[in-house]
Amino acid sequence: MATTLTAKPEAKIRKVNFKFEKPFPKHWYNDNPVATHFMNAQHLAFPDGEKFFIRSVKAFADVYKNDPELRKRVDNFIGQEGTHYAEHQKFWDIMESQDLQPMKFVDVFRKTAWNGLETWARKTFKKNNIGNKVALSVTVALEHYTAMLAESGIINKDITEGKMPEEMKNLFMWHAAEEIEHKAIPFDVLKKVDDSYALRISGMLIASWGLWFYLGLGTVMLTAQDKDVNKK
Ligand SMILES: [Fe+2]
Ligand SMILES: [Fe+2]
Repeated sequence: MATTLTAKPEAKIRKVNFKFEKPFPKHWYNDNPVATHFMNAQHLAFPDGEKFFIRSVKAFADVYKNDPELRKRVDNFIGQEGTHYAEHQKFWDIMESQDLQPMKFVDVFRKTAWNGLETWARKTFKKNNIGNKVALSVTVALEHYTAMLAESGIINKDITEGKMPEEMKNLFMWHAAEEIEHKAIPFDVLKKVDDSYALRISGMLIASWGLWFYLGLGTVMLTAQDKDVNKK
């Protein structure tokens, strides 16, 4: 059957196994410590963020369970995000071996974003399921961001070519491609749950603050921990 321009891409779950050898270059992105720690902050933020995306979509299983096509797409979304977080999390061990303390950021991130803000919001705004709806709209907004960043990473070869070890480039390119494949899936769930524009805007505001705040915090914390930063 011919693929039409309006067809939604299939979010395939691919088996991957990226391997990072020790010792891994400490300033692996373009020999630039700050840029490297911005990328390292993504290795630290993605896994917990992706677990949040999965629970945010699953909270509305009742909405999509009787729609076989959407249910299958959600299963693939969950499968892709589950593979992403496992692959990124492998790099935490390499960061430890580089005399960095990745868990210091992860602990702050978990305490404030997930055990703090998310738990509080889901409990406090139970009426009309507002807390869960906002969490889903934040997920949709973050998927929009990750797909935009993914697209710019794929299109702008200056960001990737010759800037990092091949295995790391392959990890980010694979993740980027899958982000583009699945970006519409949580949005399609949100449209079924609540098509309110105000809800989408509130998700975008929270996501915009959270994404850049935590990536910035991770970059600052890792750069401060890096004893070799001044040797550059
Ligand atoms: Fe992802
Ligand atoms: Fe995603």
